[in-house]
Amino acid sequence: MQSAAKIAEIKSNLKLPAICAPMFLVTTPEMVIAASQSGIMGCYPATNARTADDLRAHLTQISNALDDHTSQWAMNMITHTSYGRFEEELAMVQDFKPSIVITALGGPHRVTEAVHSYGGLVFADVNSPKYARKALEKGADGLVLVCSGAGGHTGEYAMIPFIEEVRRFFDGPLIVGGGIGTGRSIRAVETLGADFAYLGTRFLACEESMINDAYRQMVWDSTMEDLIQSRAITGALGNWMRASVEAAGLSAEALQSSAKIDFSADMHEGGKAWKHVWSAGQGVGGVTSRETVADIVDQLRQDY
Ligand SMILES: Cc1cc2nc3c(=O)[nH]c(=O)nc-3n(C[C@H](O)[C@H](O)[C@H](O)COP(=O)(O)O)c2cc1C
Repeated sequence: MQSAAKIAEIKSNLKLPAICAPMFLVTTPEMVIAASQSGIMGCYPATNARTADDLRAHLTQISNALDDHTSQWAMNMITHTSYGRFEEELAMVQDFKPSIVITALGGPHRVTEAVHSYGGLVFADVNSPKYARKALEKGADGLVLVCSGAGGHTGEYAMIPFIEEVRRFFDGPLIVGGGIGTGRSIRAVETLGADFAYLGTRFLACEESMINDAYRQMVWDSTMEDLIQSRAITGALGNWMRASVEAAGLSAEALQSSAKIDFSADMHEGGKAWKHVWSAGQGVGGVTSRETVADIVDQLRQDY
């Protein structure tokens, strides 16, 4: 199936053109299931499973819960060459057949053949026009444009010119993220030509998320002015909540440095990033109270 037809089919089964974006040490299988059952698309980051056996169990849980084919779900995987579990994850993609595979931190070419073989689509997560071109050359069907203000590893380019720039050389499927947290923002990016809005921070503190109470409280208490951007925590530019950076004892000088990007170690055992230094995007001010995924999607739909 052509990607445009596949996108139309996916959208016809959604109540809102939105994806609950994958978040390391945040997204649970329950969150993916709740998102997809509420009428948006859930996305499971493979890295959230500590072992390959855990990943198989989580994907089994998701695909069993969503086996009526109107519920769509996506999977996110790291394709960087230093990431040691890649082959095992790819085999599971073929077994569980998520509608969309979103590749991050590496090229999409390592998964396209496998995903296309069952009719799925590959989207590459990119943060610049240069990487967008590269991903397309390497066979991505679509792009996830991560714009400035995003939670996690953020982009540096403002959403509107980034979309416009990419539209000058690509008229295929686009997912766009970075600070989208309301129904009207979803409507706005659709008007700008995006197929789907990518929402992370809006779902960060939902009931189904795995973050602890202190992280949840910090999300509720924070606004965009409580974030700092740094390359020092993981090696890639990220948005981090200042209070968690301070609590982890990181100095202003340390934050000016740049860590080395490496996925060869056990990411669950790693340093302070994600576990003790907590990320959120610039839309964090819109997250203020305890909600389930279904509550959030209801709110988004009314507002849309
Ligand atoms: C705590 C946190 C963890 C994240 N982890 C991942 C991840 O593992 N893989 C990934 O591709 N993106 C990750 N992201 C980025 C999101 O998928 C998405 O690009 C981003 O949240 C969109 O911007 P928003 O937070 O402003 O909605 C993470 C974001 C947050 C807030």
